[in-house]
Amino acid sequence: MQILYGVVQRMGMDIPEYWESINTKSLKGLIMVLGAPDMGKSTFCEYLVQRLAKEHNHVALMDGDPGQSRLGPPTTLNLSLNSGVRRVFVGSTSPVRHMLPMLVAASKLVHEAKSAGAEAIVYDTTGLIDEHQGGVTFKQAKIDLLQPSVILALQRGKELEPILAPFGKRGGPQIIDVKPSLAVQARNMYMRRRYRRLKFTKYFTDPQRVTLDWSKFAVFPKPYFTKHVLVGLEDIEGFTVALGIALDIRPQERTVTLLLPKISLDEVKVLRVGDILVDPMSFEDRKIL
Ligand SMILES: Nc1ncnc2c1ncn2[C@@H]1O[C@H](COP(=O)(O)OP(=O)(O)OP(=O)(O)O)[C@@H](O)[C@H]1O
Ligand SMILES: [Mg+2]
Repeated sequence: MQILYGVVQRMGMDIPEYWESINTKSLKGLIMVLGAPDMGKSTFCEYLVQRLAKEHNHVALMDGDPGQSRLGPPTTLNLSLNSGVRRVFVGSTSPVRHMLPMLVAASKLVHEAKSAGAEAIVYDTTGLIDEHQGGVTFKQAKIDLLQPSVILALQRGKELEPILAPFGKRGGPQIIDVKPSLAVQARNMYMRRRYRRLKFTKYFTDPQRVTLDWSKFAVFPKPYFTKHVLVGLEDIEGFTVALGIALDIRPQERTVTLLLPKISLDEVKVLRVGDILVDPMSFEDRKIL
């Protein structure tokens, strides 16, 4: 059994009997886990990965939540493969107003998982299912684009029906209802904020300051940097090499000084300016879009 990078089944995880009765032998390909916020999606995905690792040599975990991400810093989607983690910056901690970058990132990572030969890809999604925030259209578009083989619907009532009803009638993908654990602990806005601050603090432990001549890079969407804006540094394929916080901007010299983790920037071809500010002292984040 391969030990997945970053995924260890936690002590104290409640494993309901009905989870144990899921027939994992029939689960392969892209397995999407859907649910409202605080349904225990991420914990269930950890459990599922452990179960699937008994059936397959290569199980990938796709952490598709840029707010409460487990495998990387906030604002990124992360894919855990046998070979390590692949990361894509989406520019914000929330999918709202960033649905297109979310879809592009998800598609890129799922394609990567398939190319790497993953037999099963467990996709942990965000809790955005609210119709008024665009959650229904967004999730339906994601299903249509990525064509999962199975959807595991983690719901207490029928809250996922608005998203899933048409797929049920169409007869694909297969939808399996899963009841959430009673041990789930809801997290309020302050707890979520604190979690993000801790993740950013950890990411920028032992940082370096680097001044870049931005005219030497492809800058998306355009070379307009704001103080403390979060910037994604990408390789030629669009995978994220590092995140940086803009500390000093000199438009006349076309330079930006970034706070970065101490890693090699040799592969960086693209600077992607995000829609979020991160304070380089407190690591609190603030949306600008
Ligand atoms: N099966 C479980 N056993 C024990 N604790 C659990 C279990 N499921 C969830 N929890 C607790 O509830 C918290 C929230 O669960 P989790 O992060 O899995 O939910 P989520 O649906 O992914 O939330 P989000 O909407 O933020 O993505 C966890 O930090 C954990 O403390
Ligand atoms: Mg989660």
